[in-house]
Formats: sequence, structure tokens, C-alpha cells
Amino acid sequence: MRLNEWIKVAVATLAIGLVGLAWAETPDEVVANRKATMKSMDEIGHAFDDAVANEADVTALAPQATKLAELGHDIPAMFPPGTETAGKTRAWPEVWRDRAGFARAAAQFAADSPRLATLAAAGDKDGFASQWDTVGNECGSCHRSFKRR
Ligand code: HEC
Repeated sequence: MRLNEWIKVAVATLAIGLVGLAWAETPDEVVANRKATMKSMDEIGHAFDDAVANEADVTALAPQATKLAELGHDIPAMFPPGTETAGKTRAWPEVWRDRAGFARAAAQFAADSPRLATLAAAGDKDGFASQWDTVGNECGSCHRSFKRR
């Protein structure tokens, strides 16, 4: 390559690097975003609690159930290294110390939550209630090991 071609490559590489930097979130933003995601999951969970308590029709909950599974499909990615003490995190250091255990709890949630949408869409009230019992307990069980109260 001639010198001016090298320069073009270098400039292009630098530009890509800068775009990458501009997109990267700060650790504080990562924490704020994961808390906001958890909060959305919590709102959906409350709607499920209400529906189950009132033995309401669950068909209309299908979109929220889909949303819940989407929000929680890859929880470990919301906890990258470098965010252990950032912002106002209430995550325990165990999230990073016991990465395998955290990944296992997250994988369990990711495996069980999509079924909620199927059961809701089918209008299967009892099936939904029992699956939400399982999935809701998985929220609590992960929090007990990995989240400060
Ligand atoms: C695999 C583990 C895991 C699962 C599953 C999980 N959470 Fe969390 N959740 C966490 C951790 C860790 C935090 C602390 C995040 C932080 O403060 O940085 C948290 C935080 C929260 C918060 C507090 C948010 C805030 O503003 O401080 C709520 C509410 C919440 N989760 C609800 C839920 C609900 C509802 C579910 C299930 C539908 C769920 N979570 C599933 C690990 C999990």
C-alpha cells in the first residue's frame, strides 16, 4: 500500500474506534439501565400477580409476558465487569465472584419465562398461574443470593 492508502486505513480505523467509544455506556449508565430494566420487569410481575389473584383472563397478558422474557433473556450481559460498585448499584459482589451461579440463575429464568406468553395466549389461566409461581420465585431466588435488600 502507498502511504496515502495507509493513511486512509488509519483514519477509517480511528473513526470506527470513535463511534465505538461514543456508543459505549459509562458504568453508571449501565447500572441505571439495568435497574430500569428490572423495574419494568417488576411492573409486569405486579400485573401478573393481580391477574392471578383475581383469577382474571390471562389472554391479554401475552404481550407483557413476551416483553418480560425479552427483558430478561440475557441478564448476565447487564452486569459487565467494571460495574461492581458503579452508580447506585445494589448488586452483591457475588454477581461477579460467583459468575457461574449467577449465570445459572439467569439461564433458569431465561428458560422458564418464555412459556408464560404461550400459556397466556392460550388463555390457560391455571397453567399461567403455576408458571408465574415458578418464574416469580426465580426472581426472588436470584435476588436472595445476588442483590442487597
Ligand atoms: C439472575 C438474577 C436475577 C433475576 C432472575 C432477576 N433479577 Fe432483579 N435484580 C437482580 C440484581 C443483581 C439486581 C440489582 C441490580 C443493581 O442494583 O445493580 C436486581 C434488581 C431488581 C430490582 C430493583 C431495581 C432498582 O431500581 O433498584 C427489581 C425491582 C427487580 N430486580 C425485579 C425483578 C423481577 C420482578 C424479576 C423477575 C421477573 C427479576 N428481578 C429477576 C438479579 C436478578
